[in-house]
Amino acid sequence: MNKLNEIWAASNARLEGLLKQLCADRGEPQLRLFEAMAYSLNAGGKRLRPFLVYQFCKASGGTERDADNAALALEMIHTYSLIHDDLPAMDNDDYRRGKLTNHKVYGEAMAILAGDGLLTDAFLTLASAPLPPERVAQAVRCLAENAGSRGMVGGQALDMLSEERELTEEEVLAIQTRKTGCLIKAACVLGVLCGGGSPEQLAAAERYADGVGLAFQIRDDLLDLTGDAAKLGKAVGVDGKKNTFVRLWGPERCQRLIAENTDSACAALSAFPEPGPLAQLARALAQRDH
Ligand code: IPE
Ligand code: IPE
Ligand code: MG
Ligand code: MG
Ligand code: MG
Repeated sequence: MNKLNEIWAASNARLEGLLKQLCADRGEPQLRLFEAMAYSLNAGGKRLRPFLVYQFCKASGGTERDADNAALALEMIHTYSLIHDDLPAMDNDDYRRGKLTNHKVYGEAMAILAGDGLLTDAFLTLASAPLPPERVAQAVRCLAENAGSRGMVGGQALDMLSEERELTEEEVLAIQTRKTGCLIKAACVLGVLCGGGSPEQLAAAERYADGVGLAFQIRDDLLDLTGDAAKLGKAVGVDGKKNTFVRLWGPERCQRLIAENTDSACAALSAFPEPGPLAQLARALAQRDH
């Protein structure tokens, strides 16, 4: 294992220990709901957003404990977004993270509610972070802005409304920056907030997130065309009706843009005296196969 993968695996082990406690049985009757939530939360996944929270917190002078609640909250919101994204009324997918999608196992009603539970509980988790109250308030506002109707949910709405219609470059970018970019931005910015970083570092985290977020979704769209379903843990070739970057620009231009956005993300790291593996992470994501 290289250094990046080692650090990432250690961060995932910590996070997964904490995730297990979230849906623990406390003798309440809605056990089926907790099972549905735990099914998707504990199904694996790269845990990219929590890793960004931990690394930006560390780069800003904070500890893992400072970052735990924000890391959990981000993964809960991300997991809810995937459960809902896979529903028949949305992308109608059968596999996610190498397993049947939530609604295939628990039915649509419970999948919708598992998403609702994860979304709402994420804010309870973040509001309970062991940080000064004004920093907690800033963090809650940042997550709400990026996850809500002007952020990820807004992007998902635009994505659904634009199926089977040819979009302009500006319109495709407007979808991506919201549906994928916003949660990646929240992860980087929350990391700096948890670590008590400077305003310059907050701005640099946003610039890093802009580059990584765009490269990440372009790569996601490319992998729908060229990826391996077994490695990805989800079906490929399902973006037919979607306005993806590949449809807009073709695979070669997509590769170039991934490289350019990765470079600009790495340049932003100069605001941190010790950015740790964040540059290596951006480069690895540009090549990822899952
Ligand atoms: C998939 O996200 C959805 C997009 C935003 C493109 P990830 O590729 O981070 O999914 P997991 O968490 O690893 O399953
Ligand atoms: C999903 O984008 C983005 C969110 C869930 C917010 P996609 O629909 O492209 O993600 P995949 O390809 O199903 O993972
Ligand atoms: Mg989708
Ligand atoms: Mg989808
Ligand atoms: Mg996709």
